[in-house]
Amino acid sequence: MSRPLRQVHLAAHFPGVNSTTVWTDPSSGSQIDFASFEHFARNAERGLFDYVFLAEGLRLREHKGRVHELDVLGRPNTLAVLAGLAAVTEHVGLVGTLSTTFNEPYELARQLATLDHLSGGRAGWNAVTSSDAFHGANFRRGGYLDHADRYERAGEFAALAKRLWDSWPDEGPRADPASGVFLDEGTPSRVRHTGAQFDVDALFDVPRSPQGRPVIVQAGDSADGRSFGAEHAEVIFSLHAEFADAQDFYRDVKGRLAERGRTEESLKILPAATFAIGDTAEEARERSREIALQQVRPETAIAYLEQIWNRDLSGYDADGPLPDVEPDTGSELTHGWANRHAAVRARVDRLRGIAEADRLSVRELVIRLTAQHTFVGTPGHIASEIDRYVQERATDGFTVVGHLTPHGLDEFAERVIPLLQERGSYRSGYEEGATLRDLLGLPSPVRGDVPAGAR
Ligand SMILES: Cc1cc2nc3c(=O)[nH]c(=O)nc-3n(C[C@H](O)[C@H](O)[C@H](O)COP(=O)(O)O)c2cc1C
Repeated sequence: MSRPLRQVHLAAHFPGVNSTTVWTDPSSGSQIDFASFEHFARNAERGLFDYVFLAEGLRLREHKGRVHELDVLGRPNTLAVLAGLAAVTEHVGLVGTLSTTFNEPYELARQLATLDHLSGGRAGWNAVTSSDAFHGANFRRGGYLDHADRYERAGEFAALAKRLWDSWPDEGPRADPASGVFLDEGTPSRVRHTGAQFDVDALFDVPRSPQGRPVIVQAGDSADGRSFGAEHAEVIFSLHAEFADAQDFYRDVKGRLAERGRTEESLKILPAATFAIGDTAEEARERSREIALQQVRPETAIAYLEQIWNRDLSGYDADGPLPDVEPDTGSELTHGWANRHAAVRARVDRLRGIAEADRLSVRELVIRLTAQHTFVGTPGHIASEIDRYVQERATDGFTVVGHLTPHGLDEFAERVIPLLQERGSYRSGYEEGATLRDLLGLPSPVRGDVPAGAR
């Protein structure tokens, strides 16, 4: 008897601050108008995606004293956008990236529980620790936490949020006008927490939401990041999309679950994937090349190197060789990159090595580093590749990243999804009333399974 096909899970990534987004394309739209978000989410719903996914940056990137072009189009508040989307969609999940470093657990837990109520159980939280130290300047502390402290805070944050979500009974509040009982005694249960990062004594103000707990997503790759993921995450958004590397990551992270009493199916891994579609393989390659040239304009390529060299390189030709000057390790030219000075020299040597070996210009090198598309080919080729990754346990699916706002995933939904359906590894409709957890095939959370360290 043949094995049942593993099902492909897909998330739709709304383009934002990153080098994949092309803002110079005439068909590129607003990143702020609600109509853009609405189109994007409706298309994701047409394509029966599991969820729509918003990244987040809490400070504008700056380069040479100005807002960096990768940030210029703005990023409205995540939870407000998702609440709006809850009203104009019915089935698709709504996942927001929200930092554990720059939020407070009680407040964020109630916002997420609220979104879960408003959306009928479609809320998710990408719990990031925000690696970019420059964010700190926008917040009261003005400072920043070390890597290990950020993960300590993230662990305490997630555990506390779970306790708050668990503090109401599953069946919700029981107010009984007939007997005049407002709430059963002990509802909600009091949450008392004293830890290294937080001190909270609370009666949580949002009753248990449709999913019990919003789905927790995680993005972060270090050993600490992977441990946090194995402990708390139900989805991991990774950058491991090359097949062998994806398989290694998948094995590593899923291998951490058993010792925590979790099953492999309780965690899905959905790496970021970019794509270029064509009617023929040749046409797709041309399309990929066109997109890459749009993504890496001559100015973008020079700015990329300036961030590494930490000096003004505007006198250099993007179509020429790498600058022959040495990097400056003095004050920062760009705000927005973590560990700016760490291993700069080694990085410059490595880039020079690649460029010299393959005779690449500045622009070609930057394209090589930032604009190689994960899937390039006909819709049939892309569908079969996605399916192969999932059947061979390199991933559980992908977080698909288009290069345009808001139409970047339209063609994917129209042309690739039907072929995944034909293969039998993708849903043919949403089940009525399915929560995000249901769409992802995740088990229900067990109330009270929060580690003792969080008490
Ligand atoms: C794929 C991916 C996406 C991320 N997206 C965001 C984001 O949108 N906002 C943010 O503040 N941090 C984001 N992060 C940063 C992580 O939360 C984390 O701070 C960073 O990766 C450093 O942790 P690590 O050393 O464990 O990777 C992202 C990280 C990864 C790997």
